[in-house]
Parts: sequence; structure tokens; C-alpha cells
Amino acid sequence: MCGIVGYVGKRRAAPLLYAGLKKLEYRGYDSAGIATLSSDMVWVKKVTGHVAGLRGAASLEGTCGIGHTRWATHGAPTEANAHPHVYGRFAIVHNGIIENFRSLRRMCEARGEEFSSETDSEVVAHLLERLYRGDLLDALRRTCSVLKGSYALAVICRDAPGAIALAREKSPLVIGRGKLGHFLASDIPALAPACGEICPLSDGEFALLTGEGVRLFTGEREIAPRWVPLARGEKETGKEGHAHYMEKEIAEIPAVLQRSRGGLGEGEAFSRVREAVIRADRIHIVACGTAYHAGLAAKYAIERLTRIPAEVTVASEYRYLDPILTDKTVLLAVSQSGETADTIAAARHAKERGARVVAIVNEIRSTLAALADERLPIGAGTEIAVAATKSYVAQLAVLYSLAASVAEAQGRRGYGDALAELPDLARETVRAGKAVAGWAAHFAAARSAYFIGRGADSVTALEGSLKLKEISYLPSEGYPAGELKHGTLALIEENTPVVAVLTSEELAEKTMNAVHEARARGAKVFLVTSLPAYADERGLTGSAVIPRCADVYSPALAVIPLQQLAYFVSLARGCDPDRPRNLAKSVTVE
Ligand code: AGP
Repeated sequence: MCGIVGYVGKRRAAPLLYAGLKKLEYRGYDSAGIATLSSDMVWVKKVTGHVAGLRGAASLEGTCGIGHTRWATHGAPTEANAHPHVYGRFAIVHNGIIENFRSLRRMCEARGEEFSSETDSEVVAHLLERLYRGDLLDALRRTCSVLKGSYALAVICRDAPGAIALAREKSPLVIGRGKLGHFLASDIPALAPACGEICPLSDGEFALLTGEGVRLFTGEREIAPRWVPLARGEKETGKEGHAHYMEKEIAEIPAVLQRSRGGLGEGEAFSRVREAVIRADRIHIVACGTAYHAGLAAKYAIERLTRIPAEVTVASEYRYLDPILTDKTVLLAVSQSGETADTIAAARHAKERGARVVAIVNEIRSTLAALADERLPIGAGTEIAVAATKSYVAQLAVLYSLAASVAEAQGRRGYGDALAELPDLARETVRAGKAVAGWAAHFAAARSAYFIGRGADSVTALEGSLKLKEISYLPSEGYPAGELKHGTLALIEENTPVVAVLTSEELAEKTMNAVHEARARGAKVFLVTSLPAYADERGLTGSAVIPRCADVYSPALAVIPLQQLAYFVSLARGCDPDRPRNLAKSVTVE
């Protein structure tokens, strides 16, 4: 979604802002812009499309400026709607949604002010100009006092050269300091490698950045900035020889699993969560997209291993179910970014009703992590590609570890050992999965594709399908294999690709029935299986044999060839696997 950068110091701001925006490209956006302050003037350049269009703006003068990548919500992706928005002496960039912008805009228009965009954000610049009494930060405080919704705001003012004012409410914003001066960004990766230390803002905080220092406020009360070092892993964002981040991140899965094996099940937070789960009357899991699929896969493990009931709900629907919550309910909120607005809202709902909220997150400094009672980091390292790959497997590793650990405490032994084998098996799977490259041509030419499986394999089918549609734009459905004949079979025609996932001996014959039903209607069937006996079945167009692991953990391996398939089909269809159209890496609006 939208991204913010800013800089104030001794260097020319524009090239640093441009470099910061390039780092934010992975978030997904459709227009971009920068504004700098020089000679008592605000200089602005905005473009639709790629940040590269701003390369020429790197010559803008000024040592203080702000920049933005916009993912359109209110108004089309046009130059006029792109940020920064300028009104009077102010230029602003905004992430989030100003929910009461219509009434505020009507009020400004009634005073004769003209708007140049359709956005909810522009009203902020108008209010600043109206409420300005000679003090930049004071104007921002007054403005925020009338805003409803969520915002990360960075503001520059013609009358305050060399200063940037910030405000945060339910949308992330981080300050960074380095040798060149002070920086700000909505995402930590944009601050690397220029900053050695960072200070994330909390809701309700304001800040004033100058070349000399940073002043931080809770409302009007000044507090000391909370500087923390920028960890090494947060700085590593190169492709390291891979053609795309997605390819690199899939290749990292074994190492991510290896790393987490040492840490999981040990820390104090993990022990507290395990105890809470043991005492729990039920587990609720909330998440979106791929993280939701991790929740679905975890339900199989939690219920089978611990016999504690687990319900999984798409986070955006959770509140409307009016969920039954007690002080013994544990809510697991699963999110790579920790900034997904729907997941945060669901977690807040549960917390307010007495549940114990556990955030299972990759970004440990995220809003969700701050809101939760407990945090379990998944340790996947920075994930740049919009399509989640290594973070999905890392989420599964944490959730499986939790289930195994509770099971062991309940006296059911052996599940931890099976988990310890996953890193090596994942290494083999990444190798074996490369075989699916040869399948891509069949999908590239198709009108739609289907993924089927039974039991935990049905979750892998859902995730494989999501991955494919996300980065190749090929319409696709994931189904429990048994459901195919209850409707979707009508869509199968000559050469329709169907991927069957088969990792359970117990369910194999039934899944193969669905394979034959699809074959009989002309489908090209591809099998991803850990049961070699089925790989040579007559009539299959392709098969990939992956290593065997405990059935209950199989989604962590079986998903890998499906991620690879989506990647190859994306390339075959001429798409950019790292930056799918219309999508954003973290979805910070409800
Ligand atoms: C995954 O490939 C998607 N980009 C998307 O479904 C994602 O998983 C979802 O938006 C949730 O994001 P989160 O894990 O950061 O909360």
C-alpha cells in the first residue's frame, strides 16, 4: 500500500528520497511523488506508474523533503491524486484513510477553498493552512484533533525550512538517524542502509525532525526518543543473484526453517503462550490471505495433536460473527507484516472482550505486535515479494511448534522430532519442485486452473491457487477434492490444468478418484505427491515427487512446488512475479 519517506540533513534530499521510494516499491503502488523545500519554496514532482519516473526529480534543490508511493483508494491513480499534496505553505504525504474527509472537505469548500485532487488526504493540507498560527507542530496537532480514521503524516512547511513534522495514528511510521541526517519512513527497509538506529512512533505520537535532532511527543508532552539499532537482517534486501525476490525467498525456506528450529519452543514468551493454550477453552485464529491459509493448516495440527478446538476466521469477518470469547480463549493473530488493518481490528475486538491475544508476526515492531498480549516472531527475515512464500512456511513452523509443544505437555510425544526434520526435507523439496518449470506452458495458455486435495492437502490447494492467481492473473480455484463433483467439475474442459496435492496415504485413493474424474473430462492433471507410487499413474500430464513428512505437517513442504509453479507461470505469461498489479504487500486499510 502507500509508502512514506522523508529526509532532513546536510545532503540534497531528492536523491535520498528517490532511493527510499525505490526501496518501498515492493509494497505495491500506482503513482509516486516527492516534495522538497528550498529558497522558501516547495518543489514538487509527481508521476503515475513507476518510481523510476521520478529519476529526473533527483535534481530538485533542498536538504529537506518528503516522498510517497500511492496505492489508490479515493480517486484514480493520476498525477493530481498522487502525493505530496500542496496547499498554501504546506506539503503533506499521508498513509491511511481520513474517514471524515467528506464533511471536512465540504467545510473547506464552503470557505471558498479549491481542491486539486479527489483524495481523502488533501484535506489535511487545507486544515494545516487554516489552523497555522506560526508553529508547524502546533498546526499538525490541531489538524489531527479533527481527523477521524488512520494516518501516518509527514508535513513540510515553507515557513519552517529544515523541519519535518510527523503524526501517527493506526498507520506505521518510523524515524531513522544516520551519518547523513534524519530520515523517516513507513517501512523499516526504506531506512536501510542509511540509518544505524531507528525509533518507531506509537499511536498518538508527534515528532519534529531537523538536521540537528528529533523531538518526540505524546500529544503535547515531550518524551525521549526510543532509539534502537537497525538489526542486520532488516538491512539485507538485495536479490543476491536471483532473478526475482520471489525466487530468492522460496530458496530461503530451508534456512528459515533451520533458524527457527533453534529458537522455537524455548523463549519465555513461547512458554507463556503454551501454558495459555493448555488452559484454553478454545483457540481462535484470525488472519488474511496467505496467513489465513496458515491458520487453516494450523487448525489440522492443533486439533489433531492437542484436541483443543480451533476456529479459523478471515479477519475481516471476525467481528461480524460476534465471536464467543471468554478469558480462557486464546486468539492467534497471524500476519507477516503485523500491519494488516483487518487482522489488527479482529485482534483488538478479541482483546477488548477478554481473550488473550498472541501475535504471530514477522515484523516484531509492528502495530499488531504492540497490541498483542504476547508475540511469537516467525523469523522469516524481510520478505519483499508481494506474494508471501517463506513467511507462510515460517508461520506454519511456529504454529506447528506450538501444537507439538502443547501435545508433548499433554503426554503425546514424538511430534517435536518430526518437526525437526522439516529444514532438510524443505531443502530436498525446493530441489524437487524445480521440475514444475516444465508445467508452466500448459498453464500459460489456459483460461483457468484448479487445485485440489483432501485433508491438510486441501489447504495447500487453496494456497497454491491464491499464489497462481496473484502473480499470473490466471483465474484459479482451490477446492477440497471431494467438492469438485459438487459444482466445479462443470468448468473442466479439454486441457484445463488441474493440480492435485497428495501427501496422505490414508486419503490417497479418494484424492485419486477426483483426479480420474477430472481426467475423464479432458483435464490435464498434474500431481504433487510425497507418495511415489502414485506419481506414475496413467493419464497424468506431470508429477513432482516431494519428500515424506508427518501428514499433519505436510502443508509446509507441499506448498513449495506450488509457489514455484506460480512463479514459472507468472514468467511464462510475461508478468512481474514480485510486483503483481493492484496488490500491496501490507494492506493497511480495512
Ligand atoms: C500473500 O501472497 C498475499 N500477498 C496476501 O494474501 C497476504 O498474505 C495478506 O494480505 C495478509 O498479509 P499479512 O500476512 O501481512 O497480514
